[in-house]
Amino acid sequence: MKRRQVITYTEYRSLSELGENMQRLFKRALKVQRDAYAPYSKFKVGAAVRLEGGQILCGSNQENAVYPVGLCAERVAIFQAGALYPDVRICDLVILAGGERAANNRPVPPCGSCRQAIAEYECRQGYPIRIAFGGADGGAIIEVRTVAGLLPFGFSKAFL
Ligand code: THU
Repeated sequence: MKRRQVITYTEYRSLSELGENMQRLFKRALKVQRDAYAPYSKFKVGAAVRLEGGQILCGSNQENAVYPVGLCAERVAIFQAGALYPDVRICDLVILAGGERAANNRPVPPCGSCRQAIAEYECRQGYPIRIAFGGADGGAIIEVRTVAGLLPFGFSKAFL
């Protein structure tokens, strides 16, 4: 039997269509993206998370001469939240990315490993994390209400 999974997402044409909270997160992600440590790929990524209560934590990609040792911006941000505020809910995550060969205005989705990391925190807190990516220089923004929209058939502790 063939089955189909449908994902729902919202597409915005510019940052101005977003609410104040999300606009603020994009601004913070843009700021932190500039200082990304990406000497090898030259592809800079900035991420910002908003916790319940309004606190914002940021991350940028951190590369290494031993390539696999580096870490994505999303995980730098979300692990910070997990480490510093383990009992505070993570509400939103925004991601901006661009490099020498790629403009900063394409919606760049989180990689598979980051999706899995985000899924873990949704599970831990029992609430979804809204994720938005794209749009730094006027491009489109994609938003999903939960990481499940980016990770069909995801693995979780429920299978252990
Ligand atoms: N990168 C991220 O920071 N987040 C992603 O979701 C995709 C990739 C980084 C890792 C590496 O430093 C560079 O972008 C190129 O892959």
